[in-house]
Amino acid sequence: MEDKLARLRELEEQALEGGGPERLAAQHAKGKLTARERVDLLLDPESFVELDRFVTHRSTEFGLDERKVLGDGVVTGYGRIDGRLVYVFSQDFTVFGGSLSGAHAEKIGKVQDLALANGAPIIGLNDSGGARIQEGVVSLGGYADIFLRNTLASGVVPQISVILGPCAGGAVYSPAITDFVFMVRGTSYMFVTGPNVVKTVTHEDIDMESLGGADAHATKSGVAHFAHDSEPESLAAVRTLLGFLPQNNTEPAPIGPDDDPPDRRDEALLDIVPDNPNKPYDMHDVIRAVVDGGRFFEVHAGYARNLITGFAHLGGHSIGVVANQPQVLAGVLDIDSSMKGARFVRFCDAFNIPLVVFEDVPGFLPGVAQEHGGIIRHGAKLLYAFAEATVPKLTVITRKAYGGAYDVMSSKHIRGDLNLAWPTAEIAVMGPKGAVEILFRKEIAEADDPAAATEERMEEYRRTLAHPYVAAARGYLDDVIDPRDTRPRLVSGLDMLRSKRDQNPPRKHGNIPL
Ligand code: HXC
Repeated sequence: MEDKLARLRELEEQALEGGGPERLAAQHAKGKLTARERVDLLLDPESFVELDRFVTHRSTEFGLDERKVLGDGVVTGYGRIDGRLVYVFSQDFTVFGGSLSGAHAEKIGKVQDLALANGAPIIGLNDSGGARIQEGVVSLGGYADIFLRNTLASGVVPQISVILGPCAGGAVYSPAITDFVFMVRGTSYMFVTGPNVVKTVTHEDIDMESLGGADAHATKSGVAHFAHDSEPESLAAVRTLLGFLPQNNTEPAPIGPDDDPPDRRDEALLDIVPDNPNKPYDMHDVIRAVVDGGRFFEVHAGYARNLITGFAHLGGHSIGVVANQPQVLAGVLDIDSSMKGARFVRFCDAFNIPLVVFEDVPGFLPGVAQEHGGIIRHGAKLLYAFAEATVPKLTVITRKAYGGAYDVMSSKHIRGDLNLAWPTAEIAVMGPKGAVEILFRKEIAEADDPAAATEERMEEYRRTLAHPYVAAARGYLDDVIDPRDTRPRLVSGLDMLRSKRDQNPPRKHGNIPL
């Protein structure tokens, strides 16, 4: 037995070595952690259990039969985050550049299967040169096996991708299918084709960071939901995110800290909306004043900032917040914000996380670029997502709810469960100025003092239509409330809706306008 155990120890040592001390040092020199250091940082201490330590590739081409490394460039297994089970894979760039062989793909596929079968989140730490060139189509097939599993697990278990090095070519499509993508500034890159190919094909000169770095994807493309300055920050944020999510689509999300009275009123909410309807304010202030402990975990914070999305707890329960942001583009809905919102709403609905909407929206963004870019199709995504969602849906209209955007933002008509408004709400087809210019164009043109005539008609419009009481009189709003009561009313609404049952008609799946 002794000699057999000694052999096991020897192999275990080898498996820990990865690509060897030089390559591990090179990894550190680039400001990157190793695959195992990352797993240790991500998971609760001592909780990681590795699988498939002794797997090697089966290639013989290009002298590969002489070069086998235990684990074949990816560390896989399971562990705990805040005591809750997660599955993880972590690509090891020191072994063949973390490139994906058939065996490497099988290891990832195994933890994907386990995550799905056992109903627990899966987290992929990506650091790879892509398909293992020496393996050709076997590697491409391996990617496809992963993509299929990503797709089948979508909406069943949370899937999280952390990009910690290169992620190029078709390899980007696994993270793209997962629910949340994290990137680190300066060391992680995602692109279908890199700067050299771009230069050859389109003659555009661009470096890696500007083309596919964290900020490019977290602010411009929207591919990344989170960008951080360092790997430890990024991995800590993954842990925080999981604190809002259930293990799978049949389990409830964990309860948050019990440190904020459900009946807490907030005086500050009285003064947040400015008297001048055209003056911006920061909707974050409203969100933070309402949610437990003022803790708001924003998702996609740098992308389409005219719509805010993120997680919080309300009365201890996890909620998904969707809010117009009057401070950016006056809070209009445009192509990017519609897509951002739709994907977030669908995630929350898939995982039974109630939606709380804070609404101050002047409408959809006008313009040729928006029309030709497909605002009709993309705006419809958000409408569709809210309409199909069967989770508890609560809306608070703080100020503007104009035009189609009123319908879209989880209105009563598309199965909003609890729709409240502040007395400052303005709910109508359009704002007073636009309405008056259409309805009274002739009268105003002929008036002795057109400006005064316009103002007079606008005042009449405000009095007659641009307030919450027409909607409240019809039951389109369940109540008009004192802003200070927003938190208690939402907490009680959530409790009231806890046992909500709602179903869409049986069908294979809907056809969201993608
Ligand atoms: C095999 C690879 C590899 C690959 C890197 N290596 N990429 N081995 N297959 N795809 C190996 C290198 O030979 C080297 O081995 C080690 O990993 C480190 O690579 P370096 O080039 O020295 O590192 P660095 O300078 O940091 O550059 C990293 C890199 C570069 C930018 C990722 O290696 C690179 O461009 N690799 C190829 C990327 C690529 O085109 N992949 C295919 C994309 S298409 P030694 O032994 O010297 O340490 C794709 C299709 C997916 O992935 C299919 C889905 C449909």
